Amino acid sequence: GLRKKEVNVLCLGLDNSGKTTIINQLKPSSTPAQEIVPTIGFNIEKFKSSSLSFTVFDMSGQSRYRNLWEHYYKESHAIIFVIDSGDKLRMVVAKEELDTLLNHEDIRSKKMPVLFFANKMDLRDAVSSVKVSQMLSLENIKDKPWHICASNAIKGEGLQEGLDWLQGKVS
Ligand code: GTP
Ligand code: MG
Repeated sequence: GLRKKEVNVLCLGLDNSGKTTIINQLKPSSTPAQEIVPTIGFNIEKFKSSSLSFTVFDMSGQSRYRNLWEHYYKESHAIIFVIDSGDKLRMVVAKEELDTLLNHEDIRSKKMPVLFFANKMDLRDAVSSVKVSQMLSLENIKDKPWHICASNAIKGEGLQEGLDWLQGKVS
């Protein structure tokens, strides 16, 4: 039969933003959300859609592991960047990490799509996805297709919309 196109996705963002919870929801057999623990280093997850075969590098967002991210830039075809919409204090740290990422020599010249999840939209003090995109100055990203979705990874809300956008950009 026809082989599905292989797509490497790098999932980045600060610790506790919800990366593993999001990836877990996209897999066919999910772990109960309460059993998810902070990622050590990174995990590799694979799942398929109708036309694509995804390999996701679910990186740890803890500061001591963030230096691992760059080793996977070259082989990735798309980035998912997750933000905790309720963590206003660390929004500036998220912006710093995003800016470092976008300015990296292995990313700067690539036209790879970047999908943002403004996650934890269920939190009472969460900022809107429009506000998140302003706080991260996403309008300055001119050389890559990007998209932001509000999400609630615990309930799985907003994730498919994001994945559908990403699929359209990589296929
Ligand atoms: P690291 O692996 O340390 O980088 O963190 P991570 O980004 O993988 O975060 P993880 O998925 O482990 O989630 C961190 C915490 O946030 C967990 O307690 C999740 O249950 C919780 N969480 C994830 N998504 C949501 C969400 O949409 N809403 C709420 N309220 N909590 C969430
Ligand atoms: Mg994790």
